[in-house]
Amino acid sequence: MNKFPNVSIIKHPLCCHNLSIIRNKDTSAEVLRNAIRRITYLLFYEATKDLELEYTIIETPLEKCKAQKLSSKNEIIIAPILRAGLIFSDIANEIMPYAQVRHIGMYRDEDTLTPVWYYNKIPIEFENPKNKIVLILDPMLATGNSAIDAIKLFTNKKVPQKNIRFVNLISAPEGLNKVGEIFPDVKIITASIDNCLNDFGYIKPGLGDAGDRIFNTVEN
Ligand code: URA
Repeated sequence: MNKFPNVSIIKHPLCCHNLSIIRNKDTSAEVLRNAIRRITYLLFYEATKDLELEYTIIETPLEKCKAQKLSSKNEIIIAPILRAGLIFSDIANEIMPYAQVRHIGMYRDEDTLTPVWYYNKIPIEFENPKNKIVLILDPMLATGNSAIDAIKLFTNKKVPQKNIRFVNLISAPEGLNKVGEIFPDVKIITASIDNCLNDFGYIKPGLGDAGDRIFNTVEN
């Protein structure tokens, strides 16, 4: 049962199937990347299903008709957290080619489990922050610390919480609780809520280090 009101879990059979491929420690980086890409479409279906529309009139080869398109007042921002979040950004950009892509460079200090910033492509101030729709991308929501810092980056610039979505593959309850307490109106879209974190802040059962597995830098 989902006890997190701000979280949507994608329970689609194709999502479950691809998760089983990704979690397997013997899956190669190539196969893992392809399985994540397949899940990405399903995550984005959910993450974008309430985007605002507006009416327009178009002419088909047969006649004029009323149609709907994305509201021209909103601007979509895709914000992958480097490096693991990059796995989602190509597909996000493919399905929303008009979106801005603003990278967030952050890594996790393995001793303190807190995020360390090294790159930030977000402008100092946003024009019309209320019209921004922000999709923050990071495959693993573990302690929640990076997610909170990334979300703050936008809320500090007056983007409303309800306009922010955090898209990820696997979440830990500890991180979901923390993000939900601080940002109850940020929607989180995930493929799984796992059991818990281990002493090193890794999600159990999880999939290990997402960045290392995606970019084939796992040291044996
Ligand atoms: N980051 C990862 O890549 N994996 C985890 O399990 C937790 C954080």
